[in-house]
Amino acid sequence: MNIAAPRPPELTGLAALRAGWQFARDPIRAMRLNYEAYGPCVVIGKALPFVLHPKVVLLGAPLILAAGAALNREVLNNATTWRSVSFLPGGPRNSAARRLSENLTRMTARRHAHYRKLISAPLHKHSVDALGNDMVRLAQEAVASWPTGAAIDLGQYIYRLVRLIAIDLLFGADRTLGYPIADMTNQLMERKWSGSAMAFKVNLPMTAYGRSLREAATLERCAIAWAEKKRGQVDPRDLVSIIVNSPDPDGNPASAATIARSIPALVTMTSEACQTSLTWACLLIAQHPRVAREVLDELTGVAPSVEAIMSLPRLDAVVKETMRILPPVPLQMRVAERETVLLGWPVPKGARLVLSAFVTNRVPDLYPEADRFLPERWATINPTAFEYQVFGGGPRNCPGYLFAMKVMKVALAAMLTAYRVEISAGARIDYRVQPTLRPAGSMPVVLHRQDGAFAAAPIRGNIRSLIRFP
Ligand code: HEM
Repeated sequence: MNIAAPRPPELTGLAALRAGWQFARDPIRAMRLNYEAYGPCVVIGKALPFVLHPKVVLLGAPLILAAGAALNREVLNNATTWRSVSFLPGGPRNSAARRLSENLTRMTARRHAHYRKLISAPLHKHSVDALGNDMVRLAQEAVASWPTGAAIDLGQYIYRLVRLIAIDLLFGADRTLGYPIADMTNQLMERKWSGSAMAFKVNLPMTAYGRSLREAATLERCAIAWAEKKRGQVDPRDLVSIIVNSPDPDGNPASAATIARSIPALVTMTSEACQTSLTWACLLIAQHPRVAREVLDELTGVAPSVEAIMSLPRLDAVVKETMRILPPVPLQMRVAERETVLLGWPVPKGARLVLSAFVTNRVPDLYPEADRFLPERWATINPTAFEYQVFGGGPRNCPGYLFAMKVMKVALAAMLTAYRVEISAGARIDYRVQPTLRPAGSMPVVLHRQDGAFAAAPIRGNIRSLIRFP
C-alpha cells in the first residue's frame, strides 16, 4: 500500500461518543475543536464495540471529519466513490419523500451528467449576463417598499427578495405556483436538519416524521402540477420547462418521478444559500462601521447598472469575505459507496465523511486573523476552490456560482444604497446548521434611509463565538 500521510487519529469508546454528541449538537463547533485537537482528519470510530450494524451512523460505521485543501481535493474529485447525502429528508421506498431526496446532488454517472448539463445551460455566463439588468430592476423595486424606522426581521425580507429573483429569472416568473414550492421545500429541509423528523422514524399522524412524509406528498403533487402546465411550452431560460420538456437519459419523456426529483431541490438550491449569506452580510456590514463606510463610498454615484455593480472591488471583497467567514454551505456530507482509501489509508464502504468549509476557510496560513471580518484581505489573495470552500469543487461544484455572485452583489447594492441597517441593540443572534449556516431565529434590525451614520450595536448570542467583532 502506498502510505501517503500519517494515519488519521481514531476516537473510540467514550471519546467517540463525546465527539459524536458534540457533532450532533453543533457540527461547526465540533469540527473546529477536532481540527484544533487532531489536525485536518479525525475518525470517529466505534463508540460501542458490540454495535456492528453498518447503518447505525456514529456507532457502526466510522464518521470522518475532514478539512483543508488537500482533503477537499481528494474527496471532491472522487465523486463516484464519495456520494453526497441528500439535504432533504428521505422516506420509505416508493414514497414522495424518497423521490424528493433523490435529487441532482444524489444522482450518479450518466443520469447526473445528463441533468447537470441540462440545468447548466441557463446558468452559463452569457445567460446570466443577459439577466443582469432585470435582476437590478427586481432588487430595486422590491427593496423600495421595505419599511423604515420600525423593528423588522431582515431575514424574512431577504428571503422574499431572493425568492422573487430566483423564481422570476430562473423559473419563468411563475410566482403563484413557484412560491409555495420554495416555501414547502424549505420547511421540509428544516424538518430534516432540526432533527425532529429523523429522530423518531414512525409514520403516525402526530409524529414529525409522519408530518414530513405527508408534506413531501403535497409538495410532490404541487411540483408535478406546476411542471405539467409547462409540458410542450419550451423555454430555455426556465428550469421547470427545461426539465419537463427534455427526454430523460434513456430518451423517454420526463416522468413524474423525474419532476419530483428535480424541481423542488432546484428551487431551494437557487435561493437558500444566497438568502442566508445576504442576511449575514448585512449583519457583518452593520457591525463593522469602517467597512460599511468604505462600501457606501464605493457605491455612491455608481450607475444602477449590473456592469457598474459587478466591477466594484470593495463590494466584491465584502461578498467573498462574508462567505469565507460564514460559509452558507458549511459542511459537505459524503458516504463511501465502496471500499476506498483516504490519505492512503483504507476506508470501509458505508463510512460517512464530512468536509468542513467552515474550518477550511479559517486555515491561518492562508487567512491570518481568520476570525476577523477583513474584506481587505481579498486585495492580496486568490485561493483555489479547494482552499476557499464556498461553492464546492470538482465535478459536483456549484453550477449556480455566477448567478449567485450576481444576486449577492446586486441585492446588497440595492439594500445598502437605500438603507442603513441598524441591528437592534441587545439582539440575540444565534446560528444553526440546517444544512446551510443560518441565523437560528430572526435578524432584528431597524432600517434607516441611508445617511452614513454607521455604528455597531451591542449584540448577544453564539454568533460571537464565530466572529471577533471590533
Ligand atoms: C451563495 C450561493 C450559493 C452557494 C454558497 C452554493 C454552494 C454550493 C455548494 C457548496 C455545492 C456543492 C455541494 C456538495 O458538494 O455537497 C453546490 C451545489 C449545487 N448548487 Fe449551489 N450554491 C449557491 C447558489 C446556487 C445557485 C444560485 C444555484 C442555481 C442557480 C445553485 C445550484 C446548485 C446545484 C444544482 C448544485 C448541485 C450540483 C451537482 O450535484 O452536480 N447554487 N452549491
